[in-house]
Amino acid sequence: MEGTFEVNGKPVQWVFEPDATLLHVLRENGHSEVKNGCSAGECGACLILLDGKPVNSCQVLAASAVGKSVVTSSGIGDIHDPHPIQLAFADVGAVQCGFCTPGMVLAAYALLQDNPDPTEEDIKRALDGNLCRCTGYVKILEGVQLAAGRMRGNG
Ligand code: FES
Ligand code: FES
Repeated sequence: MEGTFEVNGKPVQWVFEPDATLLHVLRENGHSEVKNGCSAGECGACLILLDGKPVNSCQVLAASAVGKSVVTSSGIGDIHDPHPIQLAFADVGAVQCGFCTPGMVLAAYALLQDNPDPTEEDIKRALDGNLCRCTGYVKILEGVQLAAGRMRGNG
């Protein structure tokens, strides 16, 4: 089947199997920034924003996302023009292997859209579905706090 999506602000038309997940279709079409960790909805590596809401793309059929807006981590910033969250993660050393980072960054992005001044508990809750094998989470929490402060204009 075939469908049109809006991916990172641009319309795209893709062909896919009726039972293909959105994760699979994104990766097939070059969006390798969306990671496949568990394929089971348990790790958050594949997290994207679907119509602005964070979802695990391995749990969404591409067919059900036709006509919707998809934002991947590349859609909020890149190495040349990083989003403040991406910059803060780099600044505090919240990125080690980087596998969890795109999903973490987008989960944090969704949180800060709704709550620009989150408590540590708010951040932990928002990132609850995102697993990281490397960092022990402390640096990730610091990164989100730093980004939140910078985005509020505090340095
Ligand atoms: S790959 Fe989707 S939640 Fe792990
Ligand atoms: S940095 Fe390696 S899984 Fe998080």
